[in-house]
Amino acid sequence: MTAVRSQFNSRIGFIMAAAGSAVGLGNIWGFPTQVASNGGAAFVLVYLILTFLLAYPVLIVEMTIGRYAQSNVVSALSKLSDNKIAANFGYGIGLYAIIVACLMLSFYAIISGWLFAHLIGSLSSIIGFPDFETWLYENTVSRNLIFAAIFATLTIYVVAKGIEKGIEKWSKTLMPILLIILVLLAGYTLTLPGALAGVRVYLLPDFSSLANPSIYINALGQSFFSLSLGIGGMIVYGSYLSKNESIPKIGATVALFDVLIAFLAGLLIIPALYAALHYGANIYDANGLLTSGESLIFEVLPILFDIIGTSGIIVSILFFFLLSIAALTSAISILEVPVSLVIETQNLTRRKATLLTGGAVFCVSAITIINFDILFPLILDFTTKYSITLISAIFCIYVGWIWKRTNLLKELQRGSSDISNSLFWKIWPNYVKFVCPVLIALIFTQFFV
Ligand code: ALA
Repeated sequence: MTAVRSQFNSRIGFIMAAAGSAVGLGNIWGFPTQVASNGGAAFVLVYLILTFLLAYPVLIVEMTIGRYAQSNVVSALSKLSDNKIAANFGYGIGLYAIIVACLMLSFYAIISGWLFAHLIGSLSSIIGFPDFETWLYENTVSRNLIFAAIFATLTIYVVAKGIEKGIEKWSKTLMPILLIILVLLAGYTLTLPGALAGVRVYLLPDFSSLANPSIYINALGQSFFSLSLGIGGMIVYGSYLSKNESIPKIGATVALFDVLIAFLAGLLIIPALYAALHYGANIYDANGLLTSGESLIFEVLPILFDIIGTSGIIVSILFFFLLSIAALTSAISILEVPVSLVIETQNLTRRKATLLTGGAVFCVSAITIINFDILFPLILDFTTKYSITLISAIFCIYVGWIWKRTNLLKELQRGSSDISNSLFWKIWPNYVKFVCPVLIALIFTQFFV
């Protein structure tokens, strides 16, 4: 007898889990960082356009494959065709996606470990353990190993509980908290002196930056990473989505939520940078660009938290808590990608499969922490720069060229019976068949120019 496949219990549960997967370090750290280093509001504009033109259609591709195939990502593509070559190639691509997901989770755990350490550091500054605090803020191998392990354990704990009792329950609890903290922090930051200069940089585009091709490459990578595309995460979540739900509508809700959170995060971080400038902090790097990445999160913003006094401690705790929540809800979706494969192919219980997979990924994190300077940038580029766009383009090719159009329509009709008469159906199938692969390929080639 085949076991009944797990499902999200409710529409809101799916939306919170998928939005939780999407909203992660990419939104709250990556997006404002990219805005800072790619010409401010011009980047915001390109990002919004590319999310609508490319990332949303690919999100629907992944969710539809997943719900049709009802399987892990390795078997999913092979179920779209009876052709042996297409099926075998599909297995290969599925395996590639699994490897990328594991590597992505391995670096995600490292960064999340830093965030956890800073969260505990902010808390311990209230209690007053100066030595412990110093250790937490120092970038050492021991600290990074311990906190990556803590993060991995928490991720394993949630995923081991299953779809409904783990992923759905945690996402439904954490996502509203994340939104509230983000709105509170952005609102507070906007009251700080100097912050309005940041709002101007964030919202008024300098159109001359649009002439720089790197803005498009970075925005595309950012929007795909942010919607967790190209690793099969949305295929796996789609496989747990009820057949009564309309995929285009639910996908649009998830994409809008993701964009909203990224936008709010920008409204928090860019004005916070200018508030720090107002108080005398240096917010520019050696090239005269706005500081971004690690130095933005762990150096410049903490200077601001220090300057604004007691409220700065609370802001700092909330800020690192916000980032930690975002990281956790994304990490659980990434871990679910290999876990679903192990459960379905190795006949293991979810608990064992999660421990085994999560443990293996943690070993990769540990090796990376020990050889940080060499491995970390390699893994980051391999996953976020090259692989997720390539895999996404192949998913589009499978849906556009290999999957029978009548079967595709049947799947989409579940949950939206009148879809064949809709504008969506008139545009989307040909769009993912021709336009998406070509646009992705065009932008992808720029990596090698
Ligand atoms: N979608 C996740 C993020 O934005 C991976 O961080």
